[in-house]
This record gives sequence, structure tokens and C-alpha cells, in this order.
Amino acid sequence: MGDEEKALEELAQEVKDCHRCILSERRFCAVPGEGDGHAFLMIVGQAPGEGEDMVGRPFIGPSGHLLRYFMGVAGLSFGDTYRTNLLKCMIPRYSRPKWASICACLPFLEREIALISPRVILTLGKFPAKVLFKLHSLPVPPENRTIPALFGKPYEVQGRVIFPMPHPASIIYNHSLLPDTMEHFRALGRFLQENLTE
Ligand code: URA
Repeated sequence: MGDEEKALEELAQEVKDCHRCILSERRFCAVPGEGDGHAFLMIVGQAPGEGEDMVGRPFIGPSGHLLRYFMGVAGLSFGDTYRTNLLKCMIPRYSRPKWASICACLPFLEREIALISPRVILTLGKFPAKVLFKLHSLPVPPENRTIPALFGKPYEVQGRVIFPMPHPASIIYNHSLLPDTMEHFRALGRFLQENLTE
């Protein structure tokens, strides 16, 4: 096993043992990231859902199925990516991430990014977009409701591309978002093909 893989395994164990915030009290499993440790593309979701909490793996529930489908729309392979979340523990259904939990959990995500050093980070939903923009010193829209205007476009910074996307789960609650989401993933496919293929 290489040094990076070892470091990712140690990190995963720390996530599983974590009690840094109140979310650890209600979870069944903490959910570390998983996937290709040398991935070109990292996907950052918001937080595990109930299915993920049961088994301790990201994107294995309905959001994951939708994400696989949208990756196909972009012409990308889900298996070649590294997948993780802003929060490593489930949050109560219909609630938003609290900043106290985001701040407690953020060092895990920062270490994943440092170890994998992805060329492209796909963020899913408003909170991951906000946090990844802040981490890369990109200007964050002042109001949450204006964040969707960022979706479907590349933001190049520090040799990396941040590509904010709507969260696939939003389609489950609002079917009318489907056409725009499809178009955003097609735009991702085009961007990668035109700019980042050797
Ligand atoms: N499952 C995850 O792992 N992340 C999400 O953001 C949603 C569901």
C-alpha cells in the first residue's frame, strides 16, 4: 500500500471514530469518502443520507443512483471518481447543515483534498459550493438563494476547477429541476472534453 492510500485509510478510521460534533450522537455510522485515491474528479456532497448511515459508505442510496445517472449524462465514469461529503454524519431529514458541524468536520475534507489533489471538484448543492468557494478564496454570493446561479459553470482557481452542481436529491423533491440539472451535467461533460482531455 502506498503512503497516500495509507493516509486515506487512517483518515477514514478517524472519521469513523469522530465525536467532534453533536451529529455523532445520532448517527449509526460515520461515512468517510471513498473511491480512486488518484482521482482527477472529486465529488463533494452535503451529508450522508439514511442508507449511507446504515452501511457507512457514501452515495449508495437514492441520491447516489441519481448521481450515477447524471455522471453518465456527462459521459463520466462514477468509478473513476473520489466521493465524499462536507459532513461525514447524517443530518436529520429536511434540516440544513449547521455551521458548528461544518467547522468541526471541515479538517477531514481539507485532508482528503490535500491527499487526492483533484484537478476538478464537483460540489453538490448549496453548502458544499459555498464552503469549497471559501476554501479556494473565490467570492461567495452573499445570499443562499443566489447560489444556484453558480451551478453548471467552471470556476478555475489555484490550478483547480470548482464545478458547482445542484444536489441530485433536489430532483426527488422537485421534478421541475430535472431539465436544468441535465443541462448542467452536459455542460460539465463538454467542459472536460474541451479543456481537460490530453
Ligand atoms: N448521500 C451522500 O453520501 N451524500 C449526499 O450528499 C447525499 C446522499
